[in-house]
Amino acid sequence: MDDVKMSIDRRSFLTAATAIGATLSWSDGASAASAIRWRERRDLYPQGVASGDPDHHSMVLWTRRPFAGDEPRQLTAEVALDPKFRRTIATVRAPVAAESDWTCRVLAAGLRPSTVYWYRFTDDEGSGSRIGRTITAPDPSDERAVRFAFVSCQSVNEGAQNALRRMIWEDQRTSADRRLGFVLHLGDFIYEVVEYPDEVQHRYDRTVFDIGRVPDARKVGNFHVPTSLAGYRMVYRAHIDDPDIQDARAWLPFVCIGDNHEFSWQGWQSFIKYDGKKEPAQKLRVAANQAWWEYIPSRVHKSSGPGLERFSPPPVVDAPINSLDADGFGDEQNNRIAVSSMTAYRTLRYGRHVDLIITDFHSYAMEDPTSRPEADALASRDFPLLLPEEALAILDAGSAWTGGDPPDTIAFGSASVPNFRRDEPPITVLGRTQKAWLKQQLAASTATWKIWAATNGTLDVRTDPQNLPAGMGPQWPGKGYATFGGGDFSAALLERGEIYDHVRDARVTGFVTVSGDRHSFWAGYAAKSLPPAAFDPVGVTFITGSISAPGLAEALEHGLKGHPLRGMFVAERPDGTKEPTVNLSLKHGVRTALEYARTGDLEYARLLSNPDLSPHLAFVDMGGHGYSTVTAGPRSIETEFVCVPRPISRSATDDGGPVRYRVSHSARQWAAGEAPTLHQRILEGDPKLSV
Ligand SMILES: [Fe+2]
Repeated sequence: MDDVKMSIDRRSFLTAATAIGATLSWSDGASAASAIRWRERRDLYPQGVASGDPDHHSMVLWTRRPFAGDEPRQLTAEVALDPKFRRTIATVRAPVAAESDWTCRVLAAGLRPSTVYWYRFTDDEGSGSRIGRTITAPDPSDERAVRFAFVSCQSVNEGAQNALRRMIWEDQRTSADRRLGFVLHLGDFIYEVVEYPDEVQHRYDRTVFDIGRVPDARKVGNFHVPTSLAGYRMVYRAHIDDPDIQDARAWLPFVCIGDNHEFSWQGWQSFIKYDGKKEPAQKLRVAANQAWWEYIPSRVHKSSGPGLERFSPPPVVDAPINSLDADGFGDEQNNRIAVSSMTAYRTLRYGRHVDLIITDFHSYAMEDPTSRPEADALASRDFPLLLPEEALAILDAGSAWTGGDPPDTIAFGSASVPNFRRDEPPITVLGRTQKAWLKQQLAASTATWKIWAATNGTLDVRTDPQNLPAGMGPQWPGKGYATFGGGDFSAALLERGEIYDHVRDARVTGFVTVSGDRHSFWAGYAAKSLPPAAFDPVGVTFITGSISAPGLAEALEHGLKGHPLRGMFVAERPDGTKEPTVNLSLKHGVRTALEYARTGDLEYARLLSNPDLSPHLAFVDMGGHGYSTVTAGPRSIETEFVCVPRPISRSATDDGGPVRYRVSHSARQWAAGEAPTLHQRILEGDPKLSV
């Protein structure tokens, strides 16, 4: 049985290896004690090891071994069934070279499904990397539940990765059937905006830690941002040098997709934007893609062809991008070449129950219209952060508004603001090709759960300033509800509606979205509209808090001082305690938030809840950090939010420090056309204003 299995696996390995262009030797499936003289020298492999994108018989293994000089070298990678390498099943030679910043990728294939493997790299002098652990995906017919973590937003410059430490600590102590299979990293793996502690010591509650100097940096405010490949490479190294990030990568396979900071804070396609001015940055886009590909082991497609040795960046120039095509994509050849240097959207199958459909929200996206200078006229100092919902809808739709009849102006109180989007295509985040691919994947999936890894949140962020009590100052200039602006998929109203309509029309069941980016925990329902429009959810949605990057609640504690509506966002008690009433504004409405800010009586304040505000929300915490897990089984899916205290400094204990709260949301499988129902359980601690 084993022999038959191995020979089939070996064939599929050879097919996979050819597809990805790897050149490997293979051990014939028999295991034997390692013949390599390996002495661990972590100092020679300063970024440790990692593994990525497992399927049921293979995955990509990674390390970095810098050598002096420019001469390419060879490493030996070994894969074993035990951490002592007594049962080594593969020994592979793999090149490393300065051209790829001495990063090394190996496709380990011919592996068994759902199996823990150990791996290490050794140079020709016998100096070896640390030992990594990884796990293959279950066989596509495997009926067992799948468990994985999803995370995002790790800042080593301004925070500590206690959440990752906690995640590993718990995983190492749980029962075999509760162990994580992989970590889905939804982006902001790096923050390319680097502060130097000799220039700025603190931001919000944070201490700025020294992570080194970015070569060829450009200074933007307090931030130093990369302008070259060397800059991005340095930033990746600085993040992976973090012991908790490095240990997490050595313990579990990672499946990664970039968010904005892997390229540029306010970037999209090949555009960057500082001080409201956009610039073409095709060379920077290629450099960002190359550094990502070098430091994140994955199976993404690159335009230079398969092959794990080098990225081979296509030559581009920073040519002006003066017009958009009908799909909102910058109509310029270098933009096309730069963006297509790497195609990161992809799917991974995990057993009978999970198809993970991973999308890229920044390579094909249009500029967020609410971030444009023309949108400033729709902002009011009286109502910080808020934008009328009806204005967002007009900006989102562009020329497609009401079947092609967009208004010339947008009403904002007594003002009339020019509709600067009237002649532009409707907003896309996905782009035409990726969107068609996503729809096809959703309709074709045979897994119980179609889990959309959506990077940026899809749940509406809104409140009800139209319900402000009398005497609270000026009247809200909108017609009804307010959104907290755009910037993520919740603001791509038409495109989100198109995806959700497709889910309904194609009778897709088990539609689940997981996101990061918001630096906050959210659980709720995927619905294209909210009251007073129809509310018809087609799936369930979860957003994980940041691992460490500061969130809106923390920023608000330091802002809006003296503003009459500050209580909508933060309550400050006489003893200096601050509470995120913004959670109440989002889930219950401004009356609840203001009442609680005034009295501290949560029970009474909740009686003022607006039932029409947030039927899409079960949970929101704009102040939470941590990690989340998914358990996807044959009949139900469960997500756990594990929230840790604000990660200002690294925990002194091996467990990553205490847990603030642990909250579970679960849903039973629902039939096509039925609405899902989330069941909430508080497992530990008190999430207080979040429910
Ligand atoms: Fe982030």
